[in-house]
Amino acid sequence: MAWPPSLVETPATPEKGGDVYEEICRRSKLHCVTIRNIDTTARPLQHTPASMTNPDETGRILEASGQKQLTQRERFEKVRTLVHRDSDAASAALAAEIAALIRERSAAGRQTVLGLATGSTPVPLYRELIRLHREEGLSFTHVTTFNLDEYYGLPRDHPESYYRFMQDQLFDHVDIPEHQINIPDGTVPLEAVYDHCLDYERRIEEAGGLDLQILGIGRTGHIGFNEPGSANDSPTRMITLDRVTRQDAAADFMGVANVPRSAITMGVGTILEARCLVLMAWGNNKAAIVREAAEGRMTDQISASFLQNHPNATFLVDRAAASNLTRFRFPWLVGPVEWDAAMKKRAVVWLSQKLEKPILKLVDEDYNENGVGELLASTSEAAYEVNIDNFNRVQRTITGWPGGKPGADDTNRPERSTPFPKRILILSPEPADAYIGMGGTIDRLKEQGHYVKLVFQTSGNLRVADIAALNFARILLEMVQTDQSAEWESQTAYAGSIISSIDAKGEFGVDPESVRKLKGLILRGEARDAASVCGLKYHDTRFLDLPFYEQGRYRRFRLDQADVENISRVLDEFAPDSVFVTGDASDPSSPQALSFKAFSNAWKMLKNDSTTPVPNVWLYRGRDRSFEAHEIDMAIPMSPDQLDQKVEAIRKFMSVNDADLNASARNQELAATYDALGMAEYEAIEAFRRWVPEDAAEG
Ligand code: GLP
Repeated sequence: MAWPPSLVETPATPEKGGDVYEEICRRSKLHCVTIRNIDTTARPLQHTPASMTNPDETGRILEASGQKQLTQRERFEKVRTLVHRDSDAASAALAAEIAALIRERSAAGRQTVLGLATGSTPVPLYRELIRLHREEGLSFTHVTTFNLDEYYGLPRDHPESYYRFMQDQLFDHVDIPEHQINIPDGTVPLEAVYDHCLDYERRIEEAGGLDLQILGIGRTGHIGFNEPGSANDSPTRMITLDRVTRQDAAADFMGVANVPRSAITMGVGTILEARCLVLMAWGNNKAAIVREAAEGRMTDQISASFLQNHPNATFLVDRAAASNLTRFRFPWLVGPVEWDAAMKKRAVVWLSQKLEKPILKLVDEDYNENGVGELLASTSEAAYEVNIDNFNRVQRTITGWPGGKPGADDTNRPERSTPFPKRILILSPEPADAYIGMGGTIDRLKEQGHYVKLVFQTSGNLRVADIAALNFARILLEMVQTDQSAEWESQTAYAGSIISSIDAKGEFGVDPESVRKLKGLILRGEARDAASVCGLKYHDTRFLDLPFYEQGRYRRFRLDQADVENISRVLDEFAPDSVFVTGDASDPSSPQALSFKAFSNAWKMLKNDSTTPVPNVWLYRGRDRSFEAHEIDMAIPMSPDQLDQKVEAIRKFMSVNDADLNASARNQELAATYDALGMAEYEAIEAFRRWVPEDAAEG
């Protein structure tokens, strides 16, 4: 297989000064200048529709982007962006290309120098590389690696050190010689950090520079740990971590207070010197920053934006992370679109929001002057008709009957009226998720007489603060001392073992099974308290404690068939008429995404019995980015009292490190959005989207 010119050394050609890489850089600089001069708000002149109707692109990832013609889409995207169906598909494609690179170089007796990243994003890539090693003989003996970064102050054996991460996720499972692995050392004394960083740069240079640097992206737009303010020529150095970055790492460290304050990171300059860069991003929480980095201005506030100026940089993203790119969000700005009902609704909502005008006040000129004149032209309708039609579409999403209105005409209602009452299954990945996403709706469903089953997929014990378990153990000990009865005496050993386990693991350690079990039980109590706030009884809840969660930790969970079978049993036993579920667009390594995957795989196993109607499946959003107005199929309004009640339910999660009390603000924001579109003014709204199984991620 012929390798892209930027990655394979090519014999010198006299007219180009012997350096193909330089030539690509030169051409690409021209390319980048051209792109930067484009007014991205202008309407395009030509059309490139293919990728808008079929978003998946499976083109070569490691290719020199500098030689390409500028396409319409690239008037918005200033860096080559490949969109795959999901993170597994994207990672497999990249792993295959990396394997080919390694093999080709190894065959020639040469090293491949890889820059590696940590975080959950590269985990599927590493899993696939390990598989290629085990099953297809891919050898890493000719590979040298340099990791991007390391937390400062963490010993190597700390469970959250990047050193440990890399051993666990890759190095322990392949045949790479230890001396070919390089990771910044987070334990060097402060006065030696500068020299250590200089030495790291020198080692990269001595290895011949990075052939390929893999990158993730933080929510601040950082690559490595290059937080806002990092210059494009910054070298390897010590950096103070941004507040957002520390919050994002809080779950790994059992609370934000435990997250180190600084790190050693390769600089932006160091990264940009790699011959090829691939930045990966998955899940809709990355959608906003991916768009900014790919389409926004190049700025030191978003270090990933500097990839726009690299000759061979690619963003490799899944559909959820791509969803904010202009070609998906506002496809009519990029090229011709098929004006079906969904596209029209999306464009009308967008126009109304852009002009801050209610839908019914939009006029023909508003459409024409903002690039959606084609919408009117496509059906030769006037704005007036299009407005009414789409106003009604949005209006009809609003219902106070999330389980369907008995005896009502269903023609324009989101949920069917029969059967009544319904058997309604609500799946909550971690115990608080369902309350965050649909606390008000749970209450309504119960109040309207449906048979509701709230199933907690995982125990959520990793989110419980140590202090909650310690308090329980201390109370037991107090009882022994004050009560003096033999009954309590037997609890001493248990309480003592909980206290000493928590002491022994120290600030950052991993809980042993006994502590996780106790924390899970504490959370069960809180989840049931919250359930009763929402009108549910003890028997309306069920805890599955899915094994993938019990055996894993954040960013490193692995779904197993047993998880799927658990959900499958629930579906069979409960036989729901409607299901509420979340996690479809979450970070694929999160408990939410894996819980959803367990559900969608279980769904495929459902017996296709034509006598029973297929349940409606509604997606809700818990901690993830909320639905946008045009995505909503069912909107459940809430009164101020109902909103207070929802907050009260979430507050029951007292032992949880980061209970999400902003949920109610998001519901209020959505109500304001609907109001601005010209709908009735509600205090708050919870939103749902219909799940179409064909769109489900493959297991
Ligand atoms: C950390 C790492 C980055 C990584 C980012 C995103 O900040 N230093 O290299 O890209 O986290 O992490 P994740 O992939 O888990 O979203």
